[in-house]
Formats: sequence, structure tokens, C-alpha cells
Amino acid sequence: MIFDTHVHYDDEAFDQDREAVLQRIREDGVGMIADIGADIASSKKAMELSEQYNFIYAVVGVHPSEVEPMQPSDIAWLREMAKKPKVVAIGEIGLDYHYEEPERELQKKWFKAQLELAKEVKLPVSIHSREAAQDTLTIMQQMDMQETGGVIHCFSYGWEMAKIYLDMGFYLGIGGVVTFKNAKKLKEVVQKAPLERIVLETDGPYLAPEPFRGKRNMSSYLTYVAEKIAELKKITPEEVIQITEQNAKRLYHIS
Ligand code: NI
Repeated sequence: MIFDTHVHYDDEAFDQDREAVLQRIREDGVGMIADIGADIASSKKAMELSEQYNFIYAVVGVHPSEVEPMQPSDIAWLREMAKKPKVVAIGEIGLDYHYEEPERELQKKWFKAQLELAKEVKLPVSIHSREAAQDTLTIMQQMDMQETGGVIHCFSYGWEMAKIYLDMGFYLGIGGVVTFKNAKKLKEVVQKAPLERIVLETDGPYLAPEPFRGKRNMSSYLTYVAEKIAELKKITPEEVIQITEQNAKRLYHIS
């Protein structure tokens, strides 16, 4: 069954019909999902969803664009949350240089603090890295993040960078972008990366695949992503779904 390793059903985009959507994706063959926090409030909601629904796991952390108000007490809170059995990773954390704010030094400070926390609580990490390839890699190498492992979510760099993360034991999160016409670089990465190291993700409500590009994304649409990966790797979509499900369980240490 499909494992959506990165989705935000806590987002207000689902406030009107969250329950119906969660029921619909189950009917469409989605077996498990990881709901990802992007700040303290959404991490809390992700946790609540994981307590409410059997098939939902939670990932808690603060996204680089949301670190401005962070305090040391937030790290302490995340440390407490990490003890809960359904919290399977720290994320999404990282660096995002697409916008000027928050300033880079502040992003790095809280990225490092959350990586340190992941090592301490022995959880894998979910990494958000946008237009910040070199700084992300330098920090991850300096901090020996192969120790915890994790996933580079919405992987957006070239094969050379993919290879380095694969060598560190990381998984690559592949979603709707791979179905876009202009995603040449990502298609090459998918062709070259071992299927055993790819996980499916929607990043819903964002980044819906073709033919739903621009619409609200949800886990059911991962069938289109699986079809594209299958086409690129010359295997069947069923194989993609089955292997990436095993990968996701290994990534998040779910038995
Ligand atoms: Ni996300």
C-alpha cells in the first residue's frame, strides 16, 4: 500500500473536510502517512492527528522559514514530544534561501539545534533544503548526520548531490514535481538512484502532480507519482508502491 512520507493534513487547507479527505485516501489505497510539523503549533496538530488515527504517524520540528520566534524552550518541548511512540522523526528542518528572511545565520542556528536534538533522541530527520545545497550539506557532514539518517524531502538538487546523501544513508523524497515537464534534473536522479532509497511524498496541500498541478494535493494522487517513477525505471507502478512502502517503514523505524 502507498506510504505518504510527507504531508500536512494539519494545514488549514484541510479544515473544512479533513475527516472526509482522510477517509477518501484510505479508500484509494493509502496505507500509512507521516504528517509533518512546520512550526510548534502544526507539530502539535500532527501529534494530535497521530493519536486520533491509527495510520497516521507524526514528525515534529520547525521549518527554516518559521524559526524567527524560536526559543530554547521550543527545543525542550520537541524533546518531550520525541518520546511519544508515534513520533517517528524530527522535521521538517533545514535551510531555505529562496527568501531573504529569516536571516541565514538564524536558520543555521536552529537547524543545528534540531539536528543535535535528533541525535540525542535517536530519531531520523526530515530535511527541507531549498537553494541552500552547499550549506545544508556542510552542516550535515560536520554534525555526522549519517548517525541518525533520514530523508531529503522534496529532493530538488542534481545527481551529484543525491549521490552524496545516498552514501550517507539518506532516502530521497520524491513527489509531484517528478511529473512536471521541466523536471529533467529530478528525472535523472530518479533513474539513477536505487529504488530501495526512494520514498513517496505529496507535501500536500502543495505540489500536486500532473494532471492536478496547482490544485490541493492529497495522498491519493501518489499513484501518478508512482506511475512516473515506474516509467522512468522501467518497472511496474505496483512494484514502486510496494518497495517504497518498505523503504518508508525502514526510514521511520516502523515495524
Ligand atoms: Ni512540507
